[in-house]
This record gives sequence, structure tokens and C-alpha cells, in this order.
Amino acid sequence: MPILIRSEYKGRHVISQARLARTARALLRLCGHTGSELSIMLVSDAHIQRLNSQYRRKNKPTNVLSFPLQEGTGLPDGTMLGDIVISLDTAAAEARQQGRPLRNHLTRLLIHGLVHLLGMDHERSAGEAVAMSAREEGLLQKLQQQERSARMPQLAINVDHVATLRQAREINEPDPVLAAGICELAGAHGIVAHLREDRRHMQDRDIMLLRQTVKTKLNLEMGAAPEIINIALDLRPDMVTLVPEKRQELTTEGGLDVAGQRKKLSEVINRMGDKDIPVSLFIDPDPEQITAALEVGATFVEIHTGRYCDAGGVDERNREFDLVAAAAEQAYSLGLRVNAGHGLNYQTTSRVAALDAIEELSIGHAVMARAIMVGMDQAVREMLALVQGMG
Ligand code: PXP
Repeated sequence: MPILIRSEYKGRHVISQARLARTARALLRLCGHTGSELSIMLVSDAHIQRLNSQYRRKNKPTNVLSFPLQEGTGLPDGTMLGDIVISLDTAAAEARQQGRPLRNHLTRLLIHGLVHLLGMDHERSAGEAVAMSAREEGLLQKLQQQERSARMPQLAINVDHVATLRQAREINEPDPVLAAGICELAGAHGIVAHLREDRRHMQDRDIMLLRQTVKTKLNLEMGAAPEIINIALDLRPDMVTLVPEKRQELTTEGGLDVAGQRKKLSEVINRMGDKDIPVSLFIDPDPEQITAALEVGATFVEIHTGRYCDAGGVDERNREFDLVAAAAEQAYSLGLRVNAGHGLNYQTTSRVAALDAIEELSIGHAVMARAIMVGMDQAVREMLALVQGMG
């Protein structure tokens, strides 16, 4: 289902092309055109006015124009449908007048343009205008329903710190396996555990029991060391996240240098792939690393949010956030699935969770620190509310 988006727009309104492509894909699916092709062009008022004048003899800007490649209704799946041209200037002005976010108004314009490409035309008759408007409303409602259920970012809880506390006494409590169950009961969508080569927190026993007891999804975080790779291949967690691992570090310090070790990482990813284990690569928000992650065959990237969370002042934090946002968008538009994590707490999480491209956040320390004060169940529920925009 190729969606081609081209922007000729140089004005001040910023939109997510990845989101637009995702909406277009969902709409084609709803219209039974999973295999059809569509091109979307984003332009200014001056640009759309030229097109409107040339093709419709109307010398004024408009919000959306459709240029079908095929005539008639009932087009089969797999059709080259044509072009939808949207003026972001008019779209933004209309969105402001109607008091709705630009991205929501763009969805309406996209639906209108698409229904035109599928052969309906409100200018042909009053009856067709009514039918077209009903078709558009129906599509909008279905899309909104899908978005509401699909868009919610998920929360995976890292339970390493429960094991850290246990290892401080080298006894058998607190038990990270029990903690994982409580996190799941509180609504966490997944459990993350890092089996380090030095076994400083998680032990082999923990990982085995987590594999047997986690009901949501077990994400095994690991360095690409041969011993740990073999454990992962035997264990078959729901996914693995590869991280750089240094013996001296307190916690994972930076993202993987994917670009610098393509051969090694693609071999690990292939071996995991043979056992149907999807791989996520933990990387800094760096365009080169994202492209490399795609090239070595990763399914996910996890964008390192540490520098954003640790930033000293507002300006630095905003700069770091922009890097995370741009990286998430780049990875998503390349077709990677996008997670994020490290250092996220009750102050910094909402902003990252609100990014369109983010599928899941991986959070450990902040939740465990709060759990000591308010209990694990409450700490997870409070973080979940933030992740899902209800905090
Ligand atoms: N993601 C990765 C790849 C990590 O290494 C860690 C730390 O174990 C986390 C997320 C969670 O970070 P934090 O404990 O700071 O929430």
C-alpha cells in the first residue's frame, strides 16, 4: 500500500508526515484498497491557487484538490488512485476557525480528497453531495474508533531494581518475579529485565521464572555477548532489546553504535529472527544510528531518552526533546517500530508518550523509587496514567 507524501510547503505550519501516511494507510484499508497507491502533496495557498486556476478555472486558493487517475466508482483494490493536494495554509486557517487541531482537520481533508479519488463528486448533484458527506462521516467515525484503541502508548516496567535490592543482601527477597506480577496486575503492558554478564541484579533463575509467569510480554534486555545470546535463544522471550554493556557502568550509559558494528548486529538479529524473536536496538536519537538500525534488520528501535531527562535547564531539555521527537519520527517513517526509555520519571514521561510515533516506554528506576514510598501497584498506575495521557 504505497503512500507517497511530498511536501512543497515552506511555511510555518508543522505537521507529522508519518502520521499523515499512517492515517492514509488506515483509510485505504477501511475503503478496501489495501493494495492501492495514493500520492499526497502538501503545498501553500499560492501553489494550490495556481492548480485551482489551471484545472478548475477558479482563481483562488482552496483546501484540497483531488486528481484521480481512474474514472468511476467501484475501482478494484490495487488501483493507482491519483493525487490529493492539500494547502496547509488554508487547512490551518480552517482548523483555527473550527477550533480543532490541524492534524484532525487534515484527516477530514484527506478523507474528502480520497472519497473524490474513489469516484464520488458532491458537485454533480445535491443527492450525491448528501451521499458523499455521509460516506466521509462514516469513514471519520471508523477511523476515530481505530485510533482510540490503537494509539495508546504502552508501558513496560523494568524490574531490575527489585533484584538489585535483593542482591544487596544476597538473599531471596524482594523477588523481581513477584514484582513483575504486581506490575502486570496494575496494568503494565510488559516487563523488561536485563540479564547482565556480571549478573549484578537479574539472575538466570529470575529470567527463567519470568518467562514462565509473565502474562503480558517479556522484553529481555541484553548485551550482544555469546553467552547471553545463547540464553535468549533458549528462553525465547517475546522480544529482546540489545544494549551496549560495560562492566563499570552504574546503568546503561549510551545507545549502541549500530553504524559501527553492522555485521555483528545483523548476525545477532538474524539468529533471533530464526527463533521468531523480534529485536529492538537501544540507540541515541541520532539519524545515522536509525538508518543503520533499519539496515541491519531491527524490528524496533528504543530511543535513548537519558539526555533529555538529565538536561540541566529548560533550553537544554527542549533541545534534547526535539532530538528525541525527530528521531522517533524518522524511525517511524522508515517503518521501524519505536520505543523509548531511560531516565523517564513522573515529570518527563508525558511529553515523550505524547509523540505520535512512540509505541512503548520502558521505565524502571522512577517507578521503583516511588513504589518504595507508595507501593508498587500505585506507582505503576500513576505512571500508566501519564503514559496514556490521563495524568
Ligand atoms: N531502557 C533501557 C535500554 C535501559 O537500559 C534501561 C535501564 O535499565 C531503561 C530503559 C530503564 O531506565 P530507567 O531505569 O532509568 O527508567
